[in-house]
Amino acid sequence: MLSKEIQDALNNQIKNEYFSSYTYLSMAAYCESINMQGFATWMRLQSQEELAHAMRLFDYVLNRDGRVVLHAIDKPQTKFKSLKEIFQIVLDHEREVTGMINRLYEQAISENDHATSVELQWFIQEQVEEEKTANEVLDKLKLAGDSGSALLILDTQLAERSTVV
Ligand code: FEO
Repeated sequence: MLSKEIQDALNNQIKNEYFSSYTYLSMAAYCESINMQGFATWMRLQSQEELAHAMRLFDYVLNRDGRVVLHAIDKPQTKFKSLKEIFQIVLDHEREVTGMINRLYEQAISENDHATSVELQWFIQEQVEEEKTANEVLDKLKLAGDSGSALLILDTQLAERSTVV
């Protein structure tokens, strides 16, 4: 059985993953509004990926005979100044999520909850990928600066994303 503390923490993380999904969906709307369809596609897929993260935890709590309690999702940021600002927010956000997952993992370890520790190892690895991707796109946006042609090339590259990991 999950302890009450671990169950509460996992339920809270389900909400956090939903908030990430909402944040990226809000960013997708902004990208589409400025006709950067490739960025918008990338953000839509990222939003779906976060839903998959939430559902992975949702299923885990149920598989452990726990109780899923859904929480209210905060309103995401809706106004953005630029694509560069967006990806800085993405990187900062993913770093924050890494901290959340690490704290959850430490809690599972301290309670000798091995099954939860193993489940969270998937998330720890996933966060390495999440930060790496955000960092790569941000670096390219910094290089592109105000160059319209460079931004259009990047938009075409991001449009090629087709998978939700
Ligand atoms: Fe659910 Fe972007 O990590």
